[in-house]
Amino acid sequence: MNDFSKIANLILISIIGILAIIIAELNLIDNIKAANTEEVRLFCGVTAEDNLSRRKKGVRLNLTGKSLFENNCVICHEINEQVVGPALLKITERRDRKWLYQMISNSQKLIESGDSTAINIYEMFGKAKMPPFDFTTSELDSIIDYIDCYY
Ligand code: HEC
Repeated sequence: MNDFSKIANLILISIIGILAIIIAELNLIDNIKAANTEEVRLFCGVTAEDNLSRRKKGVRLNLTGKSLFENNCVICHEINEQVVGPALLKITERRDRKWLYQMISNSQKLIESGDSTAINIYEMFGKAKMPPFDFTTSELDSIIDYIDCYY
C-alpha cells in the first residue's frame, strides 16, 4: 500500500466514524423529543426512592405513583373526567399538598374536622365516601406527582 492509499483509507475511516456519531446523536435527539411528549406527560415527577427506573435520557418513570394510582384510585377517579369522584387534573393548583395528604389518607376525618373544602366536595358528590388509605408521605407524593404530570 502506498502512502496515498494509506491516507485515503484513514480519511475514509474517519468519515465513517463521524457519520456513526452523527446518526447516534440524531437518534438521541429523537428519543429526547419523544420523551418530552408522551413519557413526560405520563410519568414525570418522581419523588419516591423506591421503584425508580430510568428509561430514556432525561426521563424518570414514576412507577410508584402510576401503580399506586392504578391499584387504588382508578376505580373511582379519572384524571381528566369525573367518574365516582372528581376529575383530579391540576389538583395541586387547586389544593395544597398538606390538604391532599389528609384528604387522600382519611377524607372522613378531614370532613369531621370541619374542613369546609372537604365538606363541600363531599356534599357535591352526594356524600359518597372515599375509603381511607395507609400511605407513607413518600407514596402520597408519588401519587400526587403522577397526577400532576397530566396537563
Ligand atoms: C370508592 C371511590 C373512591 C376511591 C377508591 C378513591 N376516591 Fe378520591 N374521591 C372519591 C369521592 C366520592 C370524592 C369526592 C369527595 C367525597 O365524596 O368525599 C373524592 C375526592 C378526592 C379528592 C379531592 C378532589 C378535589 O377536587 O379536591 C382527591 C384529591 C382524591 N379523591 C384523591 C384520591 C386518590 C389519590 C385515590 C387513590 C389513592 C382516591 N381518591 C381513591 C371517591 C374515591
